[in-house]
Amino acid sequence: MEIITIIFLTIISLSFTIFIKLIFFSPPHKLPPGPPRLPVIGNIIWLKKNSFSDFQGVLRDLASRHGPIITLHVGSKPSVWVTDTSLAHEALVQNGAVFSDRPLALPTTRVITSNQHDIHSSVYGSLWRTLRRNLTSEILQPARVKAHGPSRKWALEILVDLFETEQRERGHVSDALDHLRHAMFCLLALMCFGEKLRREEIREIEEAQYQMLVSYTKFSVLNIFPSVTKFLLRRKWKEFLNLRKSQESVLLKFVNSRGKETTGDVLCYVDTLLSLEIPTEEEDGGKKRKLSESEIVSLCSEFLNAATDPTATAMQWIMAVMVKYPEIQRKVYEEMESVLDGGEEIREEDLGKLSYLKAVILESLRRHPPGHYLSYHKVTNDAVLGGFLVPRQGTINFMVGEMGRDPKVWEDPLTFRPERFLEDGEAHGFDMTGTREIKMMPFGAGRRMCPGYGLSLLHLEYYVANLVWKFEWKCVEGEEVDMSEKQQFITMVMKTPFKANMYPRRK
Ligand code: HEM
Repeated sequence: MEIITIIFLTIISLSFTIFIKLIFFSPPHKLPPGPPRLPVIGNIIWLKKNSFSDFQGVLRDLASRHGPIITLHVGSKPSVWVTDTSLAHEALVQNGAVFSDRPLALPTTRVITSNQHDIHSSVYGSLWRTLRRNLTSEILQPARVKAHGPSRKWALEILVDLFETEQRERGHVSDALDHLRHAMFCLLALMCFGEKLRREEIREIEEAQYQMLVSYTKFSVLNIFPSVTKFLLRRKWKEFLNLRKSQESVLLKFVNSRGKETTGDVLCYVDTLLSLEIPTEEEDGGKKRKLSESEIVSLCSEFLNAATDPTATAMQWIMAVMVKYPEIQRKVYEEMESVLDGGEEIREEDLGKLSYLKAVILESLRRHPPGHYLSYHKVTNDAVLGGFLVPRQGTINFMVGEMGRDPKVWEDPLTFRPERFLEDGEAHGFDMTGTREIKMMPFGAGRRMCPGYGLSLLHLEYYVANLVWKFEWKCVEGEEVDMSEKQQFITMVMKTPFKANMYPRRK
């Protein structure tokens, strides 16, 4: 056969194959719309200057042009973004079994999470179920949470002392987030390791944890073609692995000292991890094994970070509200005065009576959720959402920040109005789990919803109530409270921390 005939036949058969594929095998649904993309690079190139720092602004802009579900391409992988609360409900609640997986983590994250053996990053399956159940049915079980009441009181004393010291030494408070983070860290370290750690010990753990958080961006280059960077950037890899080693050695010191000077009968997270058995990788006939030291470190680290940063950030916003709107602060105080019988401190058992305080906290979580996105989800099989394809090889995420400001869901969404959560308000009887409908989801929704949301709400109510009960918070003259936001690691904090003067309410 002549060469020209062979080429001709090849072209004909290739065209025929492509035609058949297009007709019979093209997916019935298309990816959600998005900006045009280039092969290999995707459309990340469309992100304008500054857009990495204002990713949410870019997504908002794209959503206004393309609709409530859009696709971005990072390289060849599609990344679906959802702004609409009903679509979020359809995915996370109604089709939770399909939308609850996590994508393969980046190489550096795999090191930090002991190969995705923590709750956040583990794939949807038996390991995730075991780890999550261990957290919820042990340390987060209501009776156990209650037993940690004295721990919370101890952390309150630390917090008040930090605020009073700054007020005394600087003449005003300007470092609220730092104080809140530190106090939360003391509390969570006690719940984690079962010990009231000394200030230097807490600082040592905080520093190790901070270095690991920084490493996500500092060593992100290692995630680009890792097989190449492992060779070309050996020194950088070594530096990163050494950082992880030192985090392990710091945390293991406290894991191993469990039992010396403990919270007595009160169970701590490490106790549960030491006795936990997890399914083996291959799931071979239900075999189980104990956690390795590295896995215990990853789980403790997750517990400390997940529970400290978002809670402290939420508290920073709530206290900023108290300073910015004295009227709201006054109502919170007057509610406590009228419902409770005085005393030095607001007790946990009284918090249930404070509906206005709860409304302020919910309104703050709506307007200023600590995280503006969820962790990335992945579908277990190709799925359809809002008539579009959500492919298995991509990721899907939800724009929590936008949902709280959606004018289709909230009346006058940019106004701070706690009354919307009270009787006759549009969100009266609001259910944080979003089982029936989602109006906002600062803690996510469905199977991957934050397991610590109940504990967080308790912390927010207890500490805010006591800070307002003990002190009157006033704006420093000439220093307006600015509610602009700034992304800092995983949370959205105040761009300009508020400044305030605090005056003891009783001598
Ligand atoms: C105001 C405080 C908090 C906020 C706003 C918050 C928010 C979130 C969000 C948005 C997620 C991701 C949900 C998803 O990907 O679908 C999450 C997951 C998680 N949170 Fe929280 N969280 C807070 C406090 C806590 C606390 C106190 C703990 C632990 C005691 C905790 C432990 C976790 C864990 C382990 C996960 C992973 C769940 C999973 O993948 O199954 N969080 N949180």
